[in-house]
Order: sequence, then structure tokens, then C-alpha cells
Amino acid sequence: MPAITCIEDLRQLYHRRTPKMFYDYAESGSWTEQTFAENTSDFQDIYLRQRVAVDMAGRSTASQMIGQDVAMPVALAPVGLTGMQSADGEIKAARAAEKFGVPFTLSTMSICSIEDVAENTSAPFWFQVYTLKDDEFMRRLFDRARAAGCTAIVITVDLQIMGQRHKDIKNGLSAPPKLTPRSIANMMTKVGWGLEMLQTKRRFFGNIVGHAKGVSDPASLSSWTAEAFDPSLNWDRIAQFIRMWGGKVILKGILDAEDARQALNVGADAIVVSNHGGRQLDGAISSIRALPEIMDAVGDKIEVHLDSGIRSGQDVLKALAMGATGTFIGRAFVYGLGAMGEAGVTKALEIIHKELDTSMALCGRKSVKDLDRDILLVPKGFSGEWE
Ligand code: FNR
Repeated sequence: MPAITCIEDLRQLYHRRTPKMFYDYAESGSWTEQTFAENTSDFQDIYLRQRVAVDMAGRSTASQMIGQDVAMPVALAPVGLTGMQSADGEIKAARAAEKFGVPFTLSTMSICSIEDVAENTSAPFWFQVYTLKDDEFMRRLFDRARAAGCTAIVITVDLQIMGQRHKDIKNGLSAPPKLTPRSIANMMTKVGWGLEMLQTKRRFFGNIVGHAKGVSDPASLSSWTAEAFDPSLNWDRIAQFIRMWGGKVILKGILDAEDARQALNVGADAIVVSNHGGRQLDGAISSIRALPEIMDAVGDKIEVHLDSGIRSGQDVLKALAMGATGTFIGRAFVYGLGAMGEAGVTKALEIIHKELDTSMALCGRKSVKDLDRDILLVPKGFSGEWE
């Protein structure tokens, strides 16, 4: 196998090693996938300013996200079904994050449960919740997260209802996978994945099965979201969840300056500028394009993070230089996990770290805290001049 030098190499390896149903689940966006595609391509519209003859000794990417020390401001985003990309995938990813010194966020829709991850790691992690109808279930989730030592919750606010991904419907996505002649035929070609999967008991939604009542098909992501998610969500309800938790809160899925102001009003500690990796509103603008207006609206009053489309350290650098304090990666670490398990997540983090460190130096900066718009060439009208 040739050397792995970039996130794209990990994606290709992941593609070869993982059943189609789960590869497609990650590597797709909603409907036409316009937003999914532009999340990455819009980063390329921004240029970095090369500077020379600047002292590069003693550089550091170390920083803080919501007051916690991080080796670089790149957290692992909550990704549902991670334990289907590789057996016990959430534990593997959390361990890689812990060793690297970056935050890991566990999704409500994970395969390994909150308790599984807590028992198999020692660094505190963050827990992501969706805004569900059932208060009792939400309270229990918060209690379980507290007992597991989680230091923050990430409330995802952009998925009251689910955007449609055509491939998931066509593939009959479920966890564990439904055994049809097609899915069996495909899984039989993914020997390493299958052997590891047979050795773990964790093949169901670990936070839900056995904990939530009245779920008609606990293996189906779409039926659970349709039944349990709260279509009547509003800002008062979000404020209620923030009080219910009583600790640090990151609101994820803000793409509009008005909503960013609301997030500030309800007392969140940070927001994540995100369009859910292009998996929700197809036709929405990319996160990086939305960032400047949100920075102008709330950037001096609340910590602003960004995800959606990050595939390199250069992308991280651009987001930080535009004012974000932190970033999250979703697919970039999933590619690594599906390609090589825990070592692959470590590889993804190493790649991004090296790219960030080197590119920062070539822009003449020694610390992420010194980054600002001055190192960027942003085209006029990048954030849009809309009618
Ligand atoms: C996600 N995302 C997500 N977000 C969340 O809050 N809870 C979840 O369970 C999931 N599940 C999920 C599954 C998969 C396969 C993907 C790719 C994404 C969204 C995720 O947290 C993050 O916002 C995006 O992944 C960021 O975009 P990139 O980095 O993947 O381009």
C-alpha cells in the first residue's frame, strides 16, 4: 500500500474496506448534494497570504475550546452509527482523540453507549443530544452523561426533522444492517470489517435500545427520528434543555446571524456554525461562507466554532483566521476510522495537525491565538450580497 499522506487517501481506503450501506451513509448529502459539495469547494475560494523571513521557531497549535486545553482546536464531531464504520468505532475514535489531546463528541445515535465510551477511555468527552419530545428520556440522558463525567453537551438544533439522503433509502440503511441478498453479497467482500464486527456485541443504538420507550423499529434511524424528535422545538425549549443540563453547552447547527443572536440570548457557551455537513437543508450556504456574518453579529460575545467541509489543516487555518475559536471534523475522522480503525483516526489527526502547523508557519504565524483575517485573501462578496 502506498504511503497515506492526506485525508483523501484515507477516504479511498475507507471506501474499499467498508460495506456500501455505511460508506454511502457518511459520503452523501441531502437531495442534490449541492450544500455537501460547496462545503468543501468554498474553502478553495479563500487564499492564504504567504509571508517569508518570519521566525518560525517555537510554534504551537495548542489552544482552548470552551475553556478546555486542546492540542489543536479540532474536535471530533458527533457522528451517528460510528460503531458501524468499524467495530466499537466510538471507543476507537475517543481513544485516538484522547491520545492526541482533542475533544471527542459522542452522538446520541452512537452504537457504543455513553457508558461504553466512559469505561474504555479516561479523558472526559462531550455528549451530543438531539432535542427530543420525551423529557424523561432527556433527563436520563443528561444523568447518564453526568455520571460518565462528560464536561459539556452539544445540543444539535438543525435536525428537528430529517433531510433526505437518497442513498440511505435505496440501501435500506439500518443498524445492525438488514440481511438482504444484496447487503450480504456486499458485506462478504468486506472481510476485515465483518470479522471485527462479529467479535463485538455492540451492533445496536447503544444509547437508545433498552432506554427509550415506544420505538417501533429500534434499528431504523429514520423511524426513530420521525417518532422521537420534536417538530415543535422553539428557543424556550432549548433554554429548558440548557437549564436541565446545568453545565457547559454548545449549540450546533447555526447558519444565520439572527439564530446566532438567539443562541447568545439563551445562554449557550459556544455555537457551531454548521449545516450538518450538508445533510439537512440542501441549498443552504456553506458554513465557511456563513461564518463572517455570524462573527460580525456575535463573535465578540460568544465562542464560535465551525464544521462542515473541513478536509485539511489548511481548511482549519482558514476558519480560525476568519475568527472561529475551534473547529469540528466529521467525515475526515470517519474516513480514518473506516480505513484503519483507531490508528486511522490518529492518522487523520496527524495529517490535519501537520497541515495546520506548516501552513500557519508559511503564513508567518507561530500560534493559533495570533491568527486573524490578515493572513487571508477573501474574494469580494464571498459572504454574499443578496437581494
Ligand atoms: C453526522 N452529523 C451528526 N451531527 C450530530 O449532531 N449528530 C449526529 O448523530 C450526526 N451524525 C452524523 C453522521 C454522519 C455519517 C455524518 C457525516 C455527519 C454531523 C456532524 O456532526 C458534522 O456536523 C458534520 O460531519 C461536519 O461536516 P464534515 O466535517 O463531515 O464535512
